[in-house]
Order: sequence, then structure tokens, then C-alpha cells
Amino acid sequence: MAYAAFRSIGAYVPEKILTNEDLAKMVDTSDEWITKRTGIKERHIAAENEFTSDLGTNAAKIAIDRSGINPDEIDMVICATISPDYFCMPSTATIVSKKLGLKNITAFDISAACTGFVYILSIAKAFIESGMKKNVLIIGAEKLSSITDYTDRGTCIIFGDGAGAALISATENKEEAIIDVHTGADGTYADLLMTPNGGSGSEHDSLSEEVNSCFMQMKGNETFKVAVRTLTKDVKEILSENNIESDSVKHFIPHQANYRIIKAVGDALKMKDEQVVVTVGKYGNTSSASIPMAMNDIYENGKLQKGDLMLLDAFGGGLTWGSALVPFSPLV
Ligand code: ACO
Repeated sequence: MAYAAFRSIGAYVPEKILTNEDLAKMVDTSDEWITKRTGIKERHIAAENEFTSDLGTNAAKIAIDRSGINPDEIDMVICATISPDYFCMPSTATIVSKKLGLKNITAFDISAACTGFVYILSIAKAFIESGMKKNVLIIGAEKLSSITDYTDRGTCIIFGDGAGAALISATENKEEAIIDVHTGADGTYADLLMTPNGGSGSEHDSLSEEVNSCFMQMKGNETFKVAVRTLTKDVKEILSENNIESDSVKHFIPHQANYRIIKAVGDALKMKDEQVVVTVGKYGNTSSASIPMAMNDIYENGKLQKGDLMLLDAFGGGLTWGSALVPFSPLV
């Protein structure tokens, strides 16, 4: 049987930084409030002519270089995003594939908001284990600034732009295989996080009315409570189903939404500080890119080593959630 191994990680952040002080000049907020309520100090913002596919392509190039896998052998590209280059089509995954020069591939996007990376990890794993694909490039890429209302202090302080990518490939060695991926969803909470305009469910009659209103809307406080509950429950389940103690986890990498959520979940799971990866302070919430960007940080700091067990935990609009137990299994 084929197993799926997590081979490499890469990430990219755009150059421009938007600080809390910058935001305090735009809306009624302060560095003190944002830091205390979210832990975020700054986030990166893509240039006007820099698209989600550019961020994803830059992250993917790094992941491919680090994988030791020939790009010609990549047979599938999946992109998780809620801020695609184009509304509907073509998919951002096909644009990234073109920019990377990949030809013999299947390529598509998925929409699972901040859980996107865990969702595409589960899809890559399933395709590889079924024998249908061998080398899958997965990308979480977001230009959230393109769907953020910079007059709404409830959301604009949180979100940032960036991308992370990983190479998942087939192996016969069970020791290096992804152990398990959980995914879930509950549409009864759909209204907590939405971009309510711009689609067929919109209340607007014409596209011209939509243009300035395709922004994210969030019931932050309610989302916060469901997030802590769901993230904690899902991790407890995946650990117990796989008979793994939390002590065996080298790196707990939760979705980087808000430091208070990360702290509450880490405490509920009795994780030690050195197990918990926190990057929200410098990148903000980059939705589907947040987990691979955080993983890339520990890789570049030399903390992520071959054989380390990572525990991923995500939560986002939909509502959606997911978790994964992933040993780091580089080829080179
Ligand atoms: N600056 C100053 N004051 C503010 C700001 C701001 N930026 N935003 C809200 N406030 C005010 C509110 O108006 C309110 O004032 P009031 O008490 O006078 O009415 C007060 O601060 C408290 O507001 P809350 O919304 O209760 O603040 P909370 O502590 O919940 O923090 C936040 C808000 C940061 C948005 C938090 O709720 C949060 O992080 N929620 C979760 C977000 C999340 O995880 N999203 C999921 C993933 S995102 C995705 O899937 C795309």
C-alpha cells in the first residue's frame, strides 16, 4: 500500500508591513487594544499588482526546491484560498501551475477558509493512498487584504497576506507516513464568518453594486467561543483515536487566529509552551496560509527536524475544522 509522506515546506510573505500604529490612523483602535485582544503586532500586505497566485507560486518554488523531487514528477496541485485571483475561474491552482511551468497535472482550488490547509492535506493523502497520484503540491495562499474592509475595526486588525506550500509524496515506509487527518464542518454556523456579497446568494441585483461590498464580515466574539471549543475537542479526538499522548507531539501548530485562542486551546490540552508554535504576532491571521507559514518558521529556525511529530489544528469560516498528525519526513 502507498502511504503519504510530508516532504517539505516553504512560505512567502509580501514585503509591505502594516503595523498596529498604521491601523490606528485608519480606524478607531490602538496598538494596546489589538495587542491585548489578539497578540498581533503587524501583518504583511501584498502590493496592488501582486496576486494570490504570485504569493502561492513563491511559496511553492521554495517547497519544491527543498523537496528533492523533480518538478516534472508533480502530478497534482491543490490550492486552498478564500481570496482567489479571480471570482469563479480560472482556479488559482491552475494559474500557479502555469507560473511554475507544471504541465502533467490535475489542478483545482478548495474553499474551507482557515481550515483550508488541513483540508488539502487530507485530499492529498487520500489521492496518494488510493494510488491515483504520487507527488502532490499543496498550497495555502491568501491576499486577504483584497476582501478586507479597512473601515471595519472588527476585522481589519486581524487579517494579513501570505502563502505556504508543501510537497506530499508517496512512500512505502509507514514510519514516515502522515498518521491521520480529521476534517469537519457545520453549516449551521455559516453566518459567523461570511463574504455575503458577490455570489448567487447575494442580495444585490447587479454586479456593479457588489464591487465595494465583497468584504469579510465576522461575528468575532461568537466565533472566538466556538473556536476554542472545537479546536480543543478535535485534538483530543485525533490523539485518543491514534493512541498518542500529547507529550509525543514535538510541535503543536494551531491556526494563527488570535493569541488568546491559541493560549486557551494550548492550556486546555496541557501543551507546554515549547510545544506550541506562535507566529500570529508578526503575520496576523492569514487564513489557509497560517499553518504552513508557521511550520516554515520553525523549519527556518532549525527547530523542525526529520521525524518530528507535528500536530496541526485549524478552524475557520463555514464553519469548518480539522486536525492532523504529521511526522516531518524530508527526502533530503
Ligand atoms: N479596537 C478597539 N476596540 C474594538 C476593536 C478594535 N479593533 N474591535 C472591537 N472593539 C470593541 C467593540 O466595539 C466592543 O466595545 P463595547 O464593549 O463598547 O461594545 C469591545 O471592543 C469588545 O468587542 P468584542 O468583539 O467582544 O472583542 P473580543 O475580545 O471578542 O475581540 C476579536 C474581538 C479580536 C475579533 C476576537 O473576537 C477574535 O479574535 N475572534 C475570533 C476570530 C477568529 O478566530 N476567526 C476564525 C478564523 S478567520 C477565517 O476563517 C477567515
